Amino acid sequence: MQQNLGINHTMHLKLITEAGNLKGKRVLVRSSCNVPLDEGSVRNSFRLRRALPTLQYLQAQGARVIVISHIGRDHKDTLLPVFTELSKSISMRWGGAVTDESFAALAATTQDGDILFCENLRQLPGEETNDSALVALLAQYAGVYVNDAFAEVHREHASTYGLAKVLPAYAGITLAEEVQELKKVMHPAHPSLFLLGGAKFETKMPLVEKYLALYDYVFVGGALANDMLKARGLEVGLSMVSEVSLSDASFLWSEKMILPIDVVVEGPAGVITKSVDTVQKDERIFDMGPETVALLTRYIAEAKTILWNGPFGNYEAGFEESTEAVAVLVADAEAFSVLGGGDTVAAVEKLGLNEKFSFISIGGGSMLTFLEHGSTPVLDTLVN
Ligand code: 3PG
Repeated sequence: MQQNLGINHTMHLKLITEAGNLKGKRVLVRSSCNVPLDEGSVRNSFRLRRALPTLQYLQAQGARVIVISHIGRDHKDTLLPVFTELSKSISMRWGGAVTDESFAALAATTQDGDILFCENLRQLPGEETNDSALVALLAQYAGVYVNDAFAEVHREHASTYGLAKVLPAYAGITLAEEVQELKKVMHPAHPSLFLLGGAKFETKMPLVEKYLALYDYVFVGGALANDMLKARGLEVGLSMVSEVSLSDASFLWSEKMILPIDVVVEGPAGVITKSVDTVQKDERIFDMGPETVALLTRYIAEAKTILWNGPFGNYEAGFEESTEAVAVLVADAEAFSVLGGGDTVAAVEKLGLNEKFSFISIGGGSMLTFLEHGSTPVLDTLVN
């Protein structure tokens, strides 16, 4: 019997495609444009491609559009490279900072079908604090608000939350699709497999508990696995571990839990692969090994639902092997497969496997928050 996991099964989003005639209407769109940059150019445009359907729809409707978004965590980061990249696919003008005097003049000149793309809102202190003055400043430029930024539905900021409280608010095409597809994996066909990588167990404990109840198997890899191995009494040497101890976790010895059996470590002997029970005090785990990938092969082949978020090796340090090997296995599997998280998506994109997954989320942390709670306060502002 399916357990009641606190999931909101009855979320009916108000869709921008059902908002009626938008010709000449001034529409503020919150898009997810937080993409990785490489020397001033967009390194991965997956989120930008997913921003297009809503912008194309509004442009075709003859709406006067202002796009707001953020990039990075440094308040100096600029969205200019994103504007350059997106402009290759849709015509738009650079609006600059919404607080600049010139912005008001630009906004006043928008014609039907125009798109004005604004500078990083996080350059303004009021964005992350959901400051009412910034909300009011933005709201004066529009009669309708569209949230298409699924990657930020776990952030109650001025552009994601505050605006929805003061303007008629709708879900964008991509945001609605995200909710629809992610809801499916909250009711998995069995056997079901949840692959969870990345780091920071302190934020992922409730998620692991919930999906151990909901899924047949949960594989924990990446730095998260170090915490599990350590709590089971194994040596993890100098490896990255979370701030929380799992020694009392209810799932520590769960039979549904699968863990790496071999790892790639860096230590005095260089970079070597070894069994998880032979890691030394002066070694650091950077990836899982080929025997673990082989172990996962059967689970992946037999699964009807596969949900995956997070890399299994330290992707930024170049330990991509196991993540890419698993990407190939999941891509070849028959299962309904859903993937999310920046590095995981980057691996799949690099291998050209996008089309082989049932759905790829633009969310990272937001995907996990949605999977845990079934909604967020931001999504609740878009519900009928
Ligand atoms: C993400 O990349 O996960 C989102 O864009 C949210 O970014 P943030 O964690 O900096 O708020």
